[in-house]
Amino acid sequence: MTNPAGRLGTPLSPSATKVMLLGAGELGKEVIIAFQRLGVEVVAVDRYAGAPGHQVAHRSHAIDMSDPVALRAVIDQEQPDYVVPEIEAIATGVLADVEADGVAVVVPTARATQLTMNREGIRRLAAEELGLPTSPYEFAGTRDELAAAAERIGYPCIVKPVMSSSGKGQSTVHGADDVDAAWDYAMAGGRVNSGRVIVEGFVRFDYEITQLTVRALGSDGETGTWFCEPIGHLQDAGDYIESWQPQAMTPAALAGARDVAQRITAALGGRGVFGVELFVAGDDVYFSEVSPRPHDTGLVTLATQRQSEFELHARAVLGLPVDTTQLFAGASAVVYGGVDAVGIAFEGVADALSVPETDLRLFGKPESFARRRMGVAVATGPDVDVARDRARTAASRVRPVR
Ligand SMILES: Nc1ncnc2c1ncn2[C@@H]1O[C@H](COP(=O)(O)OP(=O)(O)OP(=O)(O)O)[C@@H](O)[C@H]1O
Ligand SMILES: [Mg+2]
Repeated sequence: MTNPAGRLGTPLSPSATKVMLLGAGELGKEVIIAFQRLGVEVVAVDRYAGAPGHQVAHRSHAIDMSDPVALRAVIDQEQPDYVVPEIEAIATGVLADVEADGVAVVVPTARATQLTMNREGIRRLAAEELGLPTSPYEFAGTRDELAAAAERIGYPCIVKPVMSSSGKGQSTVHGADDVDAAWDYAMAGGRVNSGRVIVEGFVRFDYEITQLTVRALGSDGETGTWFCEPIGHLQDAGDYIESWQPQAMTPAALAGARDVAQRITAALGGRGVFGVELFVAGDDVYFSEVSPRPHDTGLVTLATQRQSEFELHARAVLGLPVDTTQLFAGASAVVYGGVDAVGIAFEGVADALSVPETDLRLFGKPESFARRRMGVAVATGPDVDVARDRARTAASRVRPVR
């Protein structure tokens, strides 16, 4: 912790400001590029060699980040000023030690990474401690508890492993007959089988948003809260396929969204970007979950904002001023792998980029799967509808081939 706010060093020299990314996927890659532009020395860690962020970092490591011994060893070896988690599956006890011992600043805080990696931690904080509106919910640790909880919550309800992301192990239960399958699916689909699930009442929302929220140092030297314009998105099988900004909202819903976002991020503390996931029905806003880091649906900000969510994250972490101004209406559309193969190529790229006001990110993942996110098209336009159309068109023109 040699770098107070406002002072940056020279990379690969004794004065370097050093950041370690834990997780170096497509979001980490953009965060790394943002740090690189400020002359920060970046170490990228992921579970496999050649991850997107490895390709743009000063150094890289491939380790199992859920292994506390391996994680502590890499932190001790590299001695970063800041540890920036990009994924949930991390031995967060190590982060707590690193923070408590003053070894490095954990972004945003070790407690935030601990609470958000488990749906039980973050839901109890949001609903029971902060009193934020959420879907009705219960937790269950056995098949029988799940059956009883689902009866009380009512149908349809959603069953999710407490530790999972990207919709893995998640299913909608329409009646008592579905409970067994939901339990089995959750036990097989969790990141680690913790033997626990959350049952949530089904929220019939009009739309869902990500409220990107930035906790950063203000000109007064105090930590303040900044909001990006709301991002609307479409989910399919647990993954986002399209996002756009701004999502039109009533003034009351927008105020509610920012109130919820302000309260949950203040409770998690620290500095950085948070992706607050909210469901909106009329003027009512329901908290769903929060990422204490940039959010995949926020890829759209690469096209729309003066500072993308990745630049905002880098600046906030380093104690620099942030600007959440949106310049253009815009949208993003995901490019899936389509094929299962190593070292694929992308055809139709020129065609895709001939769509006006579009840009493309190809993540450089060494291996493609049919449903793996390999790239994203982003577009701007006079309004969100035009931008969405452009992003979708551009994405559809990219053809992954063996
Ligand atoms: N209680 C609910 N009522 C209605 N829809 C829901 C509910 N919970 C989840 N969903 C839908 O499922 C999607 C994924 O849910 P959730 O964000 O909890 O899962 P996840 O595995 O954390 O996904 P990700 O990691 O992609 O954010 C939501 O964005 C929403 O579209
Ligand atoms: Mg989610």
